[in-house]
Amino acid sequence: MAAEDLFKNVISHAKEYGFIFPSSEIYDGLSAVYDYAQLGVLLKNNIRQYWWEAMVRLNENIVGLDAAILMHPTTWKASGHVDAFSDPLIDNKDSKKRYRADVLIEDHVAKLEAKIDKEVQKAEKRFGEAFDKEQFMSTNPRVLEVKERSETILKRMARSLEAEDLADVKALIEELEIVCPVSGSKNWTEVKQFNLMFGTRLGASAESAMELYLRPETAQGIFVNFLNVQKTGRMKIPFGIAQTGKAFRNEIVARQFIFRMREFEQMEMQFFIPPGTQKTWYAHWKEARLKWHLSLGLGQDNYRFHDHEKLAHYADAAADIEFKFPFGFKELEGIHSRTDFDLSRHESFSGKKMQYYDAEQEKSYTPYVIETSIGLDRMFLAVFSASLQEEELENGSRTVMRIPSVLAPYKAAILPLVKKDGLPEISKEIVDALKYDFNVIYDEKDAVGRRYRRQDAIGTPFCITVDHQTIEDQTVTLRHRDNMQQERIAIAELGQVLQKEVSLSSWLKKLEA
Ligand code: GAP
Repeated sequence: MAAEDLFKNVISHAKEYGFIFPSSEIYDGLSAVYDYAQLGVLLKNNIRQYWWEAMVRLNENIVGLDAAILMHPTTWKASGHVDAFSDPLIDNKDSKKRYRADVLIEDHVAKLEAKIDKEVQKAEKRFGEAFDKEQFMSTNPRVLEVKERSETILKRMARSLEAEDLADVKALIEELEIVCPVSGSKNWTEVKQFNLMFGTRLGASAESAMELYLRPETAQGIFVNFLNVQKTGRMKIPFGIAQTGKAFRNEIVARQFIFRMREFEQMEMQFFIPPGTQKTWYAHWKEARLKWHLSLGLGQDNYRFHDHEKLAHYADAAADIEFKFPFGFKELEGIHSRTDFDLSRHESFSGKKMQYYDAEQEKSYTPYVIETSIGLDRMFLAVFSASLQEEELENGSRTVMRIPSVLAPYKAAILPLVKKDGLPEISKEIVDALKYDFNVIYDEKDAVGRRYRRQDAIGTPFCITVDHQTIEDQTVTLRHRDNMQQERIAIAELGQVLQKEVSLSSWLKKLEA
């Protein structure tokens, strides 16, 4: 299936099976805001829990926090978000549409690069089996020319943005003759910076109300609580504070479904370390986070690191874990070596000491920080899009979601073969026996084959079918989602099988193994 169709399929499947709906859909929705439906909320909770337990339960030097979304406005001056958390925007005067200037340029480059793909496809056809892609990419003059053009454009854009030379960003758009995708015209306004934070007000009267922001990242709630947690938890460096929660960004270009949202959820962990040890800990967390991703079994080839060459002013190293989404490799998680920037800034803006007394070194210092930051919704999209598969069978085809079983919304479906002869009653007894440990579902509607397909389509790893033999020997059919194999197993053994295959504890043990 073409990438575009695959992505459309992901979006429609998410809606059709009750995972994700557009927000306030009866009013035609709200751009880049989504609601998680009955199955979506289960999957999302399971992803959050797998992250949380891997961070907080498995690491004895990491504790949790749930800071408020609303924070004192000075927080965002100290963090640099008031001055620097912005995107360059440009309007087309004819269509009145607003774009991110850097995205217009990047899209132009992506079109150039698509030409390379075409050249490769043509050559593949021409040379057949003898085709050596690597050699072709490094020697073909047309490919080399396009590559060089793309690099020159991106370098110039990066230079201009860094130097805040917005006039040059516009000049570049004009030189490249980029047209508005809606009006087709080149009638552009100047490029302006647009702050991404959502403003709001605290207080009832206009005079006394305080201007606030909805937090654009959860990290600052951790930084401002650093000493509170360290002292009350008697934490010794190195230690970490983990947090999950909503963040808000007024994204100019919000598209690609739940990849870039205006209201989204982050799962972040700040790890406080002695200055000078940041290289070691940065490498440690890069490896640990990749291991967490790979433990889910979505395929090693779906991940790659992208090390940042251009660093934010507060970072001395940064990398993204990129995932192969249906629209290509894109950032899923960031790992940042943030130095002592945040704590130092909060110290100077608040006038309160943010230092740690290190009894071993017998001195106080401002700790350095390694941050791991992943978007929960992006992780949802990664899991969802990699799991959704169309499979050809001997007698037709099926849609199956190979969701890692620890994350699956339901762990098992209990299905009486027919709605009579006492089979529903036995099935409900099985539900009652399992439901305290596992999220299971009972379904008696339609033929059993259709019920299997429905459970495949929502990612349920096991179907447990109760039939007439069950009455005689207390066994059921256990059907495996991934290979559709069926085995006969005693009701008394079901709990053990589920415990081994789908429970959080057995997946956490595998992660640590
Ligand atoms: N505290 C660091 C920080 O916020 P970031 O790279 O801006 O860094 C971290 O964001 C992660 O949050 C990203 O890797 C991505 O997974 C997620 N994220 C950022 N903006 C998002 C958006 N508009 N919609 C969904 N997820 C987003």
